[in-house]
Amino acid sequence: MIDLRSDTITTPTPEMIEAMSRAELGDDFFRDDPTVLDFEAQVADLLGVESAMLVISGTMGNIVSAMALAPRGTSIIVEATAHIHINESGWPSTIAGLTPRPVQGIGGMISATALTDAIAAGQSRLSAPTSLLCLENTHNAAGGRVMSPEDLAVLAGIAHDNGLNVHLDGARIFNAAISLGRSVSDFVQPVDTTTFCLCKGLSCPLGAVVAGSSEIIEKTRRWRQIIGGGMRQAGVIAAAGRVALRTMVARLEEDHQNAKLLATRLRDAGLDVDPSAIETNIVFVNLPSGNFDTAYLHSEMLENGVRISPPKAGRLRLVTHREITQSEALMASDLIAKTCEAARGRQLSSVNNAGMDAIY
Ligand SMILES: Cc1ncc(COP(=O)(O)O)c(C=O)c1O
Repeated sequence: MIDLRSDTITTPTPEMIEAMSRAELGDDFFRDDPTVLDFEAQVADLLGVESAMLVISGTMGNIVSAMALAPRGTSIIVEATAHIHINESGWPSTIAGLTPRPVQGIGGMISATALTDAIAAGQSRLSAPTSLLCLENTHNAAGGRVMSPEDLAVLAGIAHDNGLNVHLDGARIFNAAISLGRSVSDFVQPVDTTTFCLCKGLSCPLGAVVAGSSEIIEKTRRWRQIIGGGMRQAGVIAAAGRVALRTMVARLEEDHQNAKLLATRLRDAGLDVDPSAIETNIVFVNLPSGNFDTAYLHSEMLENGVRISPPKAGRLRLVTHREITQSEALMASDLIAKTCEAARGRQLSSVNNAGMDAIY
């Protein structure tokens, strides 16, 4: 099965499993787990920040960061299609007491003017005061687009100058760093907190990290405890994380090349996709409007050995990762092109409820 649904489907490497089984463990509540301590110190060093904390998931990293940086009853500026805003089940309001203030970006990026306008709008007595800017890099719903450290610093600078804190949802920040040939710390320096995921392109079975100053990370540690994210022998996760940092970062370039190849092949076959917009490992294909049977496309692909997320809002998302080789990317693109041709002109054959859970 060629699985293009997400880079989260990657399974741990044999080296990770070996490291997990041999990890020296302790109780992380007491800060006694040497593997966690060593991993967190390694991450802090790599990112050029004072402190880092292991969490279960990227969502949890975003939640505890926002709770540490934004008082309840305030609002947070998010790009309108940001993962935090559209794909994290509404935690800003349900858990954190925060009102999202969505701002439309271009290619996932909020312009300096739009940010300044949003900050000004938040100063009205009728608005929840704005306390936090959340950025996302790479930007998932924009097709893995990368924001340069310089662009990021401009937005963070505007936010800071206006008294806002800044959180970076860097679930795929290593993809951004590899894509631009920059150090990951360049993206982290301008912001107050950064989250990145271990279980996407980095292939760990679970885990994410929050990084920032020691003072803020201590606050996130307390919020992690409150929302039930305290861990005990978490060294089993950290052990895989250490292997990921050593073995999984440089190879992301391969995923980016395969995504570009996939997009180019689909464009050459007549599909609506722009290979020049592919900067990392996510490809969006705009499906034909009018009669086009997305349910048929999904089931026919599955029947022929290629798993895709059901198309959502007329777009098909394809994600490359460690378990997709170059020849598989090519095979899959030929099958997608052929099946799209067959789906064109067909009435929707069934309501595909699985689309509700497409992960983008
Ligand atoms: C940009 C972005 N942020 C956050 C997350 C959440 O990560 P997790 O699934 O580990 O909660 C994802 C997951 O796909 C993501 O794409």
